[in-house]
Amino acid sequence: MTKRRQSRANRILSRLNGRSIVLLGMMGCGKSAIGKMVARKLGLEFKDADTEIEAAAGRTVADIFAEYGEEEFRRLEERVIERILSEGPVLLALGGGAFMAQPTRAVISRHGLSVWIKADLDLLMERVGRRPNKRPLLKQGDPREILSKLLQVREPVYAKAELHIQSQSGTKSEMRNVVLEALDEHLKDPS
Ligand code: S3P
Repeated sequence: MTKRRQSRANRILSRLNGRSIVLLGMMGCGKSAIGKMVARKLGLEFKDADTEIEAAAGRTVADIFAEYGEEEFRRLEERVIERILSEGPVLLALGGGAFMAQPTRAVISRHGLSVWIKADLDLLMERVGRRPNKRPLLKQGDPREILSKLLQVREPVYAKAELHIQSQSGTKSEMRNVVLEALDEHLKDPS
């Protein structure tokens, strides 16, 4: 780690002042992959909301949707996110629908800095196409049409996030640096 990077990480951490970083955005925007790398640089624990939901339910997300339906998944999602954020500072990657719930947005604004990883439809399609069975919502019809409709409904809500970062089609480590730079800039002392 270079000295400059080290001090950037320290600066970000001290200005977060115990808050968590919460990454949100559409499925396929890279929240988990980028989140892990940013967390490693900052020395923050990384949590993935879907993984935590699966651990709590003892089932995969796809099985929860199939056995109990989306509504029950959303209830579980809200509870799990609230628990994770009340337990202490982490870097949390949300599932794509989580930020749509007002109580979840309230919990996030109490405990963390919300960061929207924006990505356009083509980039999302390219990424979700790699693991089609992971996402139950995309199995309900034509994935491109579904993603496009979800984008229209969700983008105005995602826009309530404190920080917006455009996902780029470079390497993961380039994107990690873009996120670190944006966090540093956003958290800069205004004076
Ligand atoms: C969902 C996104 C998924 C997962 C579930 C629902 C959504 O997470 O939570 O399949 O509503 O967009 P990822 O965004 O991590 O794929």
